Amino acid sequence: MATLQDMLSVDAFEAAAAGRLGKVAHDYYRSGAWGERTVRENVEAWSRLWLRPRCMVDVSVRDASVDLLGVRSPSPLLVAPTALHRMAHDEGEVATARAAGVCGIPMVLSSLSTCTIESVASATTAPLWMQIYISQDRGFTRALAQRAEAAGCRALMVTVDTPVWGVRERDIHNGFRVPDGMRMANLERPGQPTGHTGRGIGESLGWTIDASLTWKDLEMLRGAVKVPVLVKGVLRGDDAAKAIEHGAAGVVVSNHGGRQLDGAIATATALPDVVQAVAGRVPVIVDGGIRRGTDMLRALAMGATAVQVGRPVLWGLAVGGSEGVERVLRTLMEEFSLAMALAGCAKVADIRADLLQRD
Ligand SMILES: Cc1cc2nc3c(=O)[nH]c(=O)nc-3n(C[C@H](O)[C@H](O)[C@H](O)COP(=O)(O)O)c2cc1C
Repeated sequence: MATLQDMLSVDAFEAAAAGRLGKVAHDYYRSGAWGERTVRENVEAWSRLWLRPRCMVDVSVRDASVDLLGVRSPSPLLVAPTALHRMAHDEGEVATARAAGVCGIPMVLSSLSTCTIESVASATTAPLWMQIYISQDRGFTRALAQRAEAAGCRALMVTVDTPVWGVRERDIHNGFRVPDGMRMANLERPGQPTGHTGRGIGESLGWTIDASLTWKDLEMLRGAVKVPVLVKGVLRGDDAAKAIEHGAAGVVVSNHGGRQLDGAIATATALPDVVQAVAGRVPVIVDGGIRRGTDMLRALAMGATAVQVGRPVLWGLAVGGSEGVERVLRTLMEEFSLAMALAGCAKVADIRADLLQRD
């Protein structure tokens, strides 16, 4: 039986997780919208970017750390917000948070968490951020944001690519719903269904999002809390510029891991336009298809401040609980440091666009 130490890559965790998870949970985690083209393209677009390593640079001492909203992080890596961690492991988001803490990696907690914000906050020593959906009930959204702030979350990340839920056909075929014995720990309200009915999460959790969300809602959220608010789900430079106009403290280039608009461009493809529009005013984080330290290097060479990983963390959690997540994060951090060395970069500022082959 393979041990965690035998898992050398995120891909190895993905393969092992497929054997550990039941079909319904595995399909929920891996699925994308409709034909899943964007899911595949997210991974492939990074691979198409070839690297031009520099040689004869002293890389014996390397510093992979970056500044994220005023806090020094050991690596340009965050845990992306993903729902329902207790489907992967009984300890759920608490186990993920513990691993993030051990690695010093910030974690963004999903609104659709199966553990309470407070229990997750007390499990990690690294910065905890909270992801927020703009619910049909704006009062509930404000209260959730304030609860996250009171629990110690140092930033909010409002997801803007979800006016409606993308259609994930695997979940519909499987009749997916939140498993019995699990709860949407932070979304409970008297009289509201919390995912135990319906086919696919969209049917039962419709009230947690709202098709009328606009930039005004970003301002509403900013007014509700003192912590910085980042915008997640931007794929265009003009939208990134609008996000900043409306007070975003950072922009996350994301297509929700291909789970929303199938056919949306890969995040590696979207990144340059966003970086150009942002012009260094706020951090640019990117997620989607990051599976190797070399993908992190590519993202930073294109001007990203940091990357997030979604599914890789879920695979680690399914395979080895907290230790599995830790191993996934450490693998990416180690690969990134080695990729820096092999590309001739001693510090993150050395990772520049000339490392990438231009067509
Ligand atoms: C199973 C799953 C659940 C997700 N849940 C959320 C969520 O609750 N909120 C959110 O903003 N994004 C959510 N996402 C999107 C991730 O934050 C992230 O954008 C995406 O997973 C990145 O792609 P990757 O999985 O290829 O790393 C989810 C993604 C997956 C795979």
